[in-house]
Parts: sequence; C-alpha cells; structure tokens
Amino acid sequence: SPIPAMARTLVLILVHALVSVVKSDVGYNLPSPAYGVPDLRAEASEIVEEVDPVARLAGNIPGGGIPGENYPILASVPETKFACEDMEFPGYYADTADEAACQVFHVCTADLQLESFLCPNGSVFNQQYFVCDWWFNVDCAASEDFFRLNADIEKLPEVEPLPEASDLRNSYAPPSDVAPPAELYNLPRDEEPVITTAPPPPPTEVYILQEEVTDPAQLYNLPEPTTLPPPPPPPLRLYYTPNRRRSFRG
Ligand SMILES: *[C@@H]1O[C@H](CO)[C@@H](O)[C@H](O)[C@H]1NC(C)=O
Repeated sequence: SPIPAMARTLVLILVHALVSVVKSDVGYNLPSPAYGVPDLRAEASEIVEEVDPVARLAGNIPGGGIPGENYPILASVPETKFACEDMEFPGYYADTADEAACQVFHVCTADLQLESFLCPNGSVFNQQYFVCDWWFNVDCAASEDFFRLNADIEKLPEVEPLPEASDLRNSYAPPSDVAPPAELYNLPRDEEPVITTAPPPPPTEVYILQEEVTDPAQLYNLPEPTTLPPPPPPPLRLYYTPNRRRSFRG
C-alpha cells in the first residue's frame, strides 16, 4: 500500500539526515588524500605495524640474531646468585647466569658493595675488554676466564717521573752508554756564539803586460802589480752636420 511505502522513504531520509549531522558534529570526515597532503590514515596503519618493539629491535641490531634468543633483551636486572663475596678482586663482572646472559654486569667495590647494570639491548658485557660489546663478539660462557683481569684494573700504568727543571738543560746530552768524540764534551755551553765576519775581499790588482808573454814560465816573474790608471777620456769627435733645409712642395 502507498502509505507504508511513503513512511519507509520518510524514515530513510530522516536516518540519512541524522547520520550526516552526527558525522559533521564529530568532525569524523577526514579529508581524502590530496596532492601534497599526507595520507594520515595510511601512515597511521604503518605506525601500528611498526610499533612492535622487538621486531624493531631485530631490525636495528646487527648480526641478524633473534632478540631474546640470540641475545637477551632484559628490561631490568634479574635476581641471580652473583655475589661480590665470591669474587677474588673488586672490579667489573659479567653475570653468566642464564637469566642474565651477560647483559647484566656487576661492579664490586673494595668494600664489597654491589652495583648492577644492564648493557644496551643487542650488547653484552665483554669481560676481556670491560665494555658492552655487540652480542656476536662475546662468548658469555667464557667470561670467567677473564675475571682475573680485575686484579690489574686499579693499577695505573707506570709513568716516568717528569725530569727536574735543573736536569732539562742537559737533556740533550748523549746517553751515557754511547761514547761521543771527546771534543763534544769540551763544547762551550750557554755562551754567546762568536760570529766571525768574512774578511774583506782583496783590492783588485791589474797586471799591465809590457810585452807579449810567450813562455808560460814568464807568468811567474811578472812585474809588481800597479793599479790601473783611469781610462783616458774618449776621443772627441766632431761631426759636421750641414744645415738641413726643409723643402716644401708647393
Ligand atoms: C630491551 O628491549 C626490550 C623490548 O623492547 C625492552 O623492554 C627493554 O627495556 C630493553 N632493554 C634495554 C636495556 O634497553
């Protein structure tokens, strides 16, 4: 019948209008992605996929291991049987217990106080070098072989004492086991150097040969040198220059 059909249409229109009002009130209509506008819905779903921290960890840590299987991913220091009292020296110790798996290391102070730390995920304590190292560089079970290195960590490297200031002036003396030439020991020290100037060049002497020398032996019997007399003035030359007459073409 026509009346129920009209009523149904009316209800549909009302529902549609109501939904539109609700949608616009809530502001639920995200703009559809347009040029230059990021598609927030697509990005949001990517972020949700990426949020798994363990999967992200696996991608960030080299070596291709599985987090929690090939290397520990502890969030806090677990309770283990480690005790500073059992250790021979104060120092740094990897915790080799299964639940610590060397991500945990302990510091035992001289008065047997214990402080415990976690290496960053993907790394474990390298007992040989006393650093947190990538998990694939460390054999956790072998850590105890290096525990005795703690005996040396408080020793400072031997440093040669600085020389006394009074010794410094002779610090370039040759080592005592090398015998230098005797005269080196007699060099004057700390004296002004003597600067010798070159002697002035001898005056120029000129030999005026009176005769032609044919026998080279004569060169040894040359007369006493005399200084060269000043050169004679150049001869005066007179040129007769006839008057020039300028001629013009008329
Ligand atoms: C290691 O990763 C796990 C999982 O993401 C996290 O709960 C834990 O806090 C991380 N540990 C360290 C020391 O960062």
